[in-house]
Amino acid sequence: MSTSVQDQNRQRFDVIAAEWDESPTRRELATGVAAAIAGAVPLQADWQALEYGCGTGLVGAALAPRLGRLLACDVSPGMLSVLTEKAHAAGLDHLQTRVLDLTREPPPAERFDLIFSSMTMHHIPDVAALVHTFHGMLKPGGWLALVDLDAEDGSFHGDDVPGVMHHGFDRAALQEQLRATGFVQTSARTAHTVTKTAADGRVSRYPVFLITARA
Ligand SMILES: C[S@@+](CC[C@H](N)C(=O)[O-])C[C@H]1O[C@@H](n2cnc3c(N)ncnc32)[C@H](O)[C@@H]1O
Repeated sequence: MSTSVQDQNRQRFDVIAAEWDESPTRRELATGVAAAIAGAVPLQADWQALEYGCGTGLVGAALAPRLGRLLACDVSPGMLSVLTEKAHAAGLDHLQTRVLDLTREPPPAERFDLIFSSMTMHHIPDVAALVHTFHGMLKPGGWLALVDLDAEDGSFHGDDVPGVMHHGFDRAALQEQLRATGFVQTSARTAHTVTKTAADGRVSRYPVFLITARA
């Protein structure tokens, strides 16, 4: 049986999980993203939150101390096992991890005050279907915070990376998609800008947006 692009994607993250946090670029991005979310969303100490595509929890572990509970979900058991160890070491007892792929399985039954996702939407084939699912998982008035690349030319990941379904997103179009799903109060800002230097010395800058909306 051939391996699907989604399985290749999961396997790639399982393999790179142990070294994920070593990248200063990823750590700086996550710090910027966590600060942007904390600045845009009125986080509450009794909130039930879900992070989708949490990876090793670079963003989630930074926000967890300000939340009542964080269910950190990802398709990659390898990424989650790094996060589980970090959460245990940091005493983040209210952070739980779960293997979850909402493109293939139903959502959990519980409802959340906040769903956030950083740098994962570009791996999702049908973004409209996923934001519809997110809407159903939120309590009335609950917050959605989506972080990803602005539309780019494909150079951010390069050619050899499986599972990259979108070369970033148009902010206005994504907000329109959210409103069509039933979200209100959509708002967009730049959370961070990633700078990459190519082998030939060419420097490229990739703005990363934060879009917030309410169910
Ligand atoms: C670029 S990484 C970002 C990780 C983390 N959010 C961060 O900022 O460091 C993308 C993450 O999305 C996860 N992912 C990819 N496709 C997914 C899917 N269909 N469902 C859940 N997670 C997925 C990957 O396993 C990976 O951990």
